[in-house]
Amino acid sequence: MSSTEHLADGESRLNIHTLIEADARTGFAADVRRGLRSQPKRLFPKYFYDTLGSVLFDAICLLPEYYLTRAEDEIFATSADEIVAAAVAATTAAVATGGSEQDAPLTLLELGSGSAAKTRQLIEALLRRQDELLYVPIDISAPALETSARVLLQSYPALRIEGYASDYDTALAHLCHSAGGKVEGSGGGRTLALFLGSNVGNFELDEAEKFLRALRGCLGAGDALLLGVDLKKSRIVLEAAYDDALGVTAAFNLNLLARINREFGADFDLRQFHHVAFYNELAGRVEIYLESLREQVVRLPALDLEVSFAAGERVHTEHSHKYDLAELDALAARTGFTRTRTWTDQAGLFSSNLFSTAAPSGF
Ligand code: AVJ
Repeated sequence: MSSTEHLADGESRLNIHTLIEADARTGFAADVRRGLRSQPKRLFPKYFYDTLGSVLFDAICLLPEYYLTRAEDEIFATSADEIVAAAVAATTAAVATGGSEQDAPLTLLELGSGSAAKTRQLIEALLRRQDELLYVPIDISAPALETSARVLLQSYPALRIEGYASDYDTALAHLCHSAGGKVEGSGGGRTLALFLGSNVGNFELDEAEKFLRALRGCLGAGDALLLGVDLKKSRIVLEAAYDDALGVTAAFNLNLLARINREFGADFDLRQFHHVAFYNELAGRVEIYLESLREQVVRLPALDLEVSFAAGERVHTEHSHKYDLAELDALAARTGFTRTRTWTDQAGLFSSNLFSTAAPSGF
């Protein structure tokens, strides 16, 4: 089913588990086939992140229009110590404290860690409170995971990393299962889970709920979640963030077709497709598509498939949902969490939300 590959360094401060189907191409191929044969056509955003796609996303984070990363960075630069203190308070409050538990080091679990650039501020804040830290990053891109892990280990001698090159569901199932139903920190300590960068926005609302409930099920009483969420705001600001002047987001989107060309020998002509991004205010999300500029037929020999596109036909590639705090409270309530604190950047564009597990369990 899934293979686990260990890649440990000499001091064993690094372990990377690769939990991908024996042939990851098979899943991608099946999703491409199904997505391009359905009406309307669609491709899943998780496939953006091959090696080039992960680098393009890092470039997006440097764009003047893409405020999300900078806003979250600003929050951490200003408040990392406060956030960590609040997380520790949340984790100790939820457990009847007998003293020593209070001093048990927190473990940091991160879903979709990518380059982990923002995480550094939280790692540093934690290392100001505890001598050692176990960091458990999960990312779909093995190269991004490995590179970021090695850079982090060089910076922080007190860090240990157990990384998972995996999609979220597989990694959570694995972590949950191997710890007898709960994610376990080292020495029975508690876990602070991170789901940053508004990654949760890629889920449809019902999927977000399902996912957070699954994550909640993996966390014990006294664990906490820091959820980074992009806030609802003006169409002008949102549409610029997802359709930048330099065209990096267009390249990021089109790279999905380029990846299908590379991996399946397809003949998508990238110049005959156009990046489309707009804010659907009623649905509260930015919608992203690749639009066929003319009527055309694309061949995908490795999938034994030919796909016709009408002029103006769109392939849906991504939704990026935006929330307000009332919606976050409702989401927390439906998934076994309580939003105990929220930090925003000065401009009020982005939110970091501490979700505690103090709510009645049974989720
Ligand atoms: C990584 C899913 C948070 O939705 O803002 C950025 C991805 N897509 N520009 C987002 C993305 C286009 C990003 N997330």
